[in-house]
Amino acid sequence: MRIEELQTPALLVDGTAFAHNLETMSSALPGPRLRPHVKAHKCTALAARQAAMGHPGFTCATIREMEGMAAAGLGQDLLLANEVLDTSRLGALARSGARVTVAVDSEATIEAAARGGVPEVVVDLNVGLPRCGCAPDDAGRLAELARGRGLEVRGVMGYEGHVVGLEDRAQRTELVGQCMELLVKAHAAVGGELVSAGGTGTYDINTWASEIQAGSYALMDTAYGKLDLPFRQALEVLATVVSVSPGWAVADCGLKSLGMDHGNPTIDGASVWFCSDEHLTFSADPLPAVGDRVRVIPGHVDPTVAYHERLHVVDGHDVVEVWPVDLRGW
Ligand SMILES: Cc1ncc(COP(=O)(O)O)c(C=O)c1O
Repeated sequence: MRIEELQTPALLVDGTAFAHNLETMSSALPGPRLRPHVKAHKCTALAARQAAMGHPGFTCATIREMEGMAAAGLGQDLLLANEVLDTSRLGALARSGARVTVAVDSEATIEAAARGGVPEVVVDLNVGLPRCGCAPDDAGRLAELARGRGLEVRGVMGYEGHVVGLEDRAQRTELVGQCMELLVKAHAAVGGELVSAGGTGTYDINTWASEIQAGSYALMDTAYGKLDLPFRQALEVLATVVSVSPGWAVADCGLKSLGMDHGNPTIDGASVWFCSDEHLTFSADPLPAVGDRVRVIPGHVDPTVAYHERLHVVDGHDVVEVWPVDLRGW
């Protein structure tokens, strides 16, 4: 199939840029030094390529991602890097043979893991991002509590999400050091083999973590494109110009096909005005004609992919593979 035959909006993955990204990351963080996060792509076909690069374990954000990865034969070592209170499905997954580890940050989440039959946990720490995670000096107590409930404590995790996107490398480096100081100290109190942290923006400067949970590097977006990273933009939304007025044009992709929390997407050679539900209004000189195709580069990869059912891997104008985005849902 040629990309001209695709219905729009459609996600395109540049196969060459994607391969470059996987190779670059795997040579920097070989084998278990990288625990790729599947939340960025929600696609087992893509995860299988990451596994083939030698990474045995994966990070997930949802129960559905954990189940889908195991069903695809990628359940050798799955970390759910989120807190869960209804652990019944995770327990069933562990009993079916997948290795299931879940993040805990409270007595309630430890109790839920034990009750639901999830055998292994990591203690999740708040290292500065106001999201999940216990206070650093409470980690040792929670680890003891978990062990007392019969759980295997594999170590700690602490995601420096407020740091990964900082454009200034010196500032990023300084702050990641502060975050990881907390994590390393807590690890001494908790024990276990894992110090799990990091993302695409800190993959090479977070030298404290035993494994990095990067996900966006595989496809990239314009937010990470502003940083000094060696990864290439591999993801685009292909759209069709459906209307042209004096001064602007409108393409058929909008808020419902683009993650917008990191700002407007970009179009090479054009200026994006705004997105509404199904429309993207932009100007360019010269303006395109109705029926022309445009390539829209998303600001944030994770929510963009989650809006779509499939990824089209392209080589020039040829669609060489179609990968279902099969880890959507909850
Ligand atoms: C817990 C956790 N770890 C790691 C990441 C890193 O992902 P990325 O490589 O996309 O920055 C995220 C992203 O949101 C996350 O939520």
